Amino acid sequence: MIIKPLHTLDYVRKSFNSATSRADRSRIGQFLTPAAIAHFMSSMFECGPKEVRILDPGAGAGVLFATSVETLISQENRPLSIKVVAYETDSTILPYLEETLKRCHSLCISNGIEFHGIIKCEDFVSAAIAETRESLFAVPIARFTHVILNPPYKKINSQTAMSRMLYSSDIEVANLYAVFVWLSMLLLEPCGQMVAITPRSFCNGPYFKKFRAAFLQMMSLQRIHIFESRKKAFGDDNVLQENIIYHALRGLQKPGSVTISASEGLDFDKARTLSVPYDQVVHPADRDMFIHLSINDANVGPAERMRCLTTSLNKLSLGVSTGRVVDFRAREHLRQSPEQETVPLIYPCHFLNGFINWPGESGKKPNAIASSSETSDLLVEAGFYVLTKRFSSKEQQRRVMAAIYDPTRIDAPLVGFENHLNYFHKQGKGLAADLAKGLAVYLNSTIVDQYFRLFSGHTQVNATDLRKMPYPTHEQLLRLSRYVKETMPDQESIDDIMEKECLNCEQ
Ligand SMILES: C[S@@+](CC[C@H](N)C(=O)[O-])C[C@H]1O[C@@H](n2cnc3c(N)ncnc32)[C@H](O)[C@@H]1O
Repeated sequence: MIIKPLHTLDYVRKSFNSATSRADRSRIGQFLTPAAIAHFMSSMFECGPKEVRILDPGAGAGVLFATSVETLISQENRPLSIKVVAYETDSTILPYLEETLKRCHSLCISNGIEFHGIIKCEDFVSAAIAETRESLFAVPIARFTHVILNPPYKKINSQTAMSRMLYSSDIEVANLYAVFVWLSMLLLEPCGQMVAITPRSFCNGPYFKKFRAAFLQMMSLQRIHIFESRKKAFGDDNVLQENIIYHALRGLQKPGSVTISASEGLDFDKARTLSVPYDQVVHPADRDMFIHLSINDANVGPAERMRCLTTSLNKLSLGVSTGRVVDFRAREHLRQSPEQETVPLIYPCHFLNGFINWPGESGKKPNAIASSSETSDLLVEAGFYVLTKRFSSKEQQRRVMAAIYDPTRIDAPLVGFENHLNYFHKQGKGLAADLAKGLAVYLNSTIVDQYFRLFSGHTQVNATDLRKMPYPTHEQLLRLSRYVKETMPDQESIDDIMEKECLNCEQ
C-alpha cells in the first residue's frame, strides 16, 4: 500500500469553509468537493500513459488533482512522471492549493515519480480560449492526458464580455460549468480522460443542446454516476443541485455500453450499477441528443440468476485479503530466482490455465522473497489458496480471474502473495484442496464476471467486492471441484458445470 499523506484533504475543506462565508463561496460558485467524492471520481481513471499531464480547472484547494495523483500512482502501470496544471482565480484559497500541491510533490517523490505542479492564478476561460486558438497557428500545445473538474456553477449573462468572447469561439452555453467542461475537452489529447462532477441539467433541455452536441461528438461517454438524494452529495454545504459524475474519453468512437451507477449520497460501496447499451443512453434518432439516465431497466439477468446462490464467504468460514507483499517496499528482500532461504513470491504473471505456474520464466518479475524475521509478516503458510488478480485492463475479457496455488506442485513451507493479488483463505491459512478447486471454478465462470461488472463500475477487483458477492454452498463447491483435474476446464465447460450444479434452482 502507498502511504497517503493526503488523508487530511477533508480537513482542508472544512477549515477553508469555516474561514469563509457561504454567501461569498456561493457568489463565486465555490463548493469544494468532499474527499470521499474526489476519491470516487479519481477511481474512474483507467491506467493511462507513462507521462501524465493533469488539468484541474477551478481547482479550489486541489482535492481533485490530489486524489487523482494518489489513484494514478497506486495503479498497476504507474506513470513515470506527473504534471499538474491547476487554474484558480480566488486568492483566498491559494495557500491551501499550494499546500496540496506540495503534498503531491512529496508523495510522488517518495514513490519515485517525477512531479511538476503549476498553479495558474488566472481566469481559466480566457486562458483556455487563447490556448486553443493559438494552437491553430503556433506550435501545438502539449495537451492533457487527464482532466478532472468540479467547475463553478454560474449563469452566464448574455450582455457580458465573457459571453461575447465565448460566442466568437462558437461556444454557446447558459452556464459557466458547461463552458469549463467544453474548454477542458478541447484541451485533452486523443484518448485523454475526463472525470467531471456537474449539475445534470445539461443532459436535457434546449439551453444545453449545443453543448451536448459538442460533448457527445468529441467525447466517448463511458460511465455516469447519479446521486439519488439532492442533498447528500455536498450535504454540509447545502447544495441542492442534482449532480452527476461522469467519465469520458476524448475520441469519436462511441462505446457499446455506458456504465450507469446510482447511490443515495456518499455510500458508493452500496451503489447499484448497470451496463446500459449506448443507444439507450443517447438515442441515435434523437435530434436533441438527450442523455437518458434511467437505472431501472433491463440487464438484471445475471443478478436474477445469481439469486440461486445463497451463501456468503462468511458463512463458508472463508476470508479474502489483499496480498501482503508490496514489492517496491520490500525491494531488498526480492530475488529473481529461488535461492537458499527464500520462498515463492507470486505475481499475476504466474497465472496459467487456472493454476499458479511457478517459477515463471518471463523474467519480468522476481520469483522469490527472502524468508527471514523481517519478512515473516508478509508470508503465509503453504497450502491451497485461490488467488484473483486485482487489476484487469479494459481490453481483457474478464474482470475476475482466479488461479489455484497448489502446494503439492510447489515445494516450499511458506509463500508470499504480491499486492496485485487477492487471496482466499481460511483464517489466514490454506483451504481444503477440493474447496479451493470448487471456488476457483466458480470465480472463473462467466456468470460471476457478468455479475461483477453489473455491481462494480471499475476494472479493479477489490477484496471488499469479492466479500460482498454471493457464493455457492459448501456442497456445491465440492461438486464443482470434481471437474478440476490437472488444469482448469475451458470457459464453455465451466459455464456448463455452473449451470448444472449451481444455477438450476427453479427446477
Ligand atoms: C465548485 S469549486 C470546486 C473547487 C475544487 N475543484 C473542488 O472540487 O473542491 C470551483 C472553483 O473554481 C474557481 N473559479 C471560479 N471561476 C473561475 C475561473 N474563471 N477560472 C479559474 N477558477 C475559477 C472558484 O474560485 C472555485 O474555487
